[in-house]
Amino acid sequence: PMPVLREEHGRLRRRILAGRREQVDRQHSLGKRTARERLDLLLDEGSFVEVDIYRRHRAHTLGMAEQRPHTDGVVAGSGTIGGRRVFVYAQDFTVFGGSLGEAHAEKIHKVMDLAVENGAPLIGINDSGGARIQEGVMSLDGYGGIFRRNVQASGVVPQISVILGPCAGGAAYSPALADFTFMVRDVARMYLTGPDVVRAVTGQEVGHDELGGADVHGRRTGVAAFVHDDEESCLEDVRYLVSLLPGNNMEPSPALPPCGATTDVRPRLPEIVPVEASKPYDMRTVLAEIVDDGEFLEVYEGWARNVVCALGRVDGEVVGAVGNQPMVLAGVLDADAAQKAARFVRFCDAFGIPLVTLVDVPGFLPGTDQEHAGIIRHGAKLLYAYCEATVPRVQVIVRKAYGGAYIVMDSRSIGGDLSLAWPTNEIAVMGAEGAVNVIHRRELAAANDPDGLRSELVAEYTAQLMHPYFAAERGLVDDVIDPADTRAAVARGLAMLRNKRRQPPPRKHGNIPL
Ligand code: COA
Repeated sequence: PMPVLREEHGRLRRRILAGRREQVDRQHSLGKRTARERLDLLLDEGSFVEVDIYRRHRAHTLGMAEQRPHTDGVVAGSGTIGGRRVFVYAQDFTVFGGSLGEAHAEKIHKVMDLAVENGAPLIGINDSGGARIQEGVMSLDGYGGIFRRNVQASGVVPQISVILGPCAGGAAYSPALADFTFMVRDVARMYLTGPDVVRAVTGQEVGHDELGGADVHGRRTGVAAFVHDDEESCLEDVRYLVSLLPGNNMEPSPALPPCGATTDVRPRLPEIVPVEASKPYDMRTVLAEIVDDGEFLEVYEGWARNVVCALGRVDGEVVGAVGNQPMVLAGVLDADAAQKAARFVRFCDAFGIPLVTLVDVPGFLPGTDQEHAGIIRHGAKLLYAYCEATVPRVQVIVRKAYGGAYIVMDSRSIGGDLSLAWPTNEIAVMGAEGAVNVIHRRELAAANDPDGLRSELVAEYTAQLMHPYFAAERGLVDDVIDPADTRAAVARGLAMLRNKRRQPPPRKHGNIPL
């Protein structure tokens, strides 16, 4: 009987791999790829090792005993990306709408456990109708098991969520717990309650996209770190991201050979940044001069654009860059920017990625909107994240750094290791005009020529306090550098700090202001 069994096995396997024709056609007609097609795009060719292909549910409620498709609606296993190991699952909308029941959840739990045990990134592709209704509370239990594992794996292995279909209700919380979430326009949507429920409960008419499309989460909520127009470019960028990350928190990031950055002069740098403190420019052009090949991967590109967060390399080593963006809101810090940068700093710290902070900040955004939105609480997150970070930290003050925002942007006082300033810097408690109006209010009110006196006082304040040497003489700036030498100085600083070790005292965990 053996040959017959082998033939049957082959037929069964081919049937499982092919999926149900009409469901696959429907998936394609919606402009979506199947779970297996997506894994083919994501992983190195021929590297996929599948687990639990024959897994099926054992539910019997609501007629479930009559339909027990293999895989149970999720393809799970492991493969490589650029030769490096990752663990993956991809929900399969062609089986039960990718809905999550007990067996489906247990397959995901299995690859999550394998990812942690093997110290490799976890990538989850979501395309699902959510908790499988027929399996009742077992589906909810399955989600709970995913969330608990997401949290336990947080800071141990990188976790990436890719949303390529619906992701509604409780399902949205796994991507929310991941380190980075990708969404594709017109395909992905994420919300706790869909348009029908919104209409029933609030009477509001809203479409899927308007409620939780890729751009909503990429620009307004900060749930999506990356937004793409199609699945191919999205999965290509997941591969790029993985190429910049360590497999786990005990492993160094994948380095390339040094490329001479420590002596690389960049003559364009001083031209990019206008000397006038309020003239806008794009901080990303400064970053491009500092990182290898001018290449970096920006995260949260569309959200809180007044701060730039990106991964790139300096002399072959991966770094996380945080920069104020003078092109948007003059580069002020606000509630969203503080949250964005704080989460990025904590990610880099958790995975041993050194931080390069490019400072050009006029302060925090004033006004009732921000104060009432809790800028104190949110700004504290960024402060907390930097204070806590033990990775090598290099600060470059590119033009100006005022007040509390100076402190927060990785100043020496909160644990920055190396602070570099350009000679044209303004570093002070506040700008000259404002400062003079506060400390000389009475003299100015009594003066015969207040304008003349004011400009004298402004000149005095500027000469004494508004330059980097005041900070450098006091050890708050380690070096004042020629702008063209910034890349080289950053590379030398990072090389100096490569073996940095700092062991915080034991505690259960801190209490970051959430
Ligand atoms: N549980 C069980 N089966 C589900 C399901 C769920 N949560 N979500 C979808 N399915 C099934 C559908 O019954 C359908 O099965 P069929 O092919 O045998 O008819 C199949 O998946 C495809 O779903 P369908 O509704 O035809 O696809 P769609 O593209 O029109 O709509 C959704 C997709 C996700 C918007 C829709 O399926 C939906 O609203 N699902 C329920 C979402 C929900 O509230 N989940 C609970 C959240 S915790």
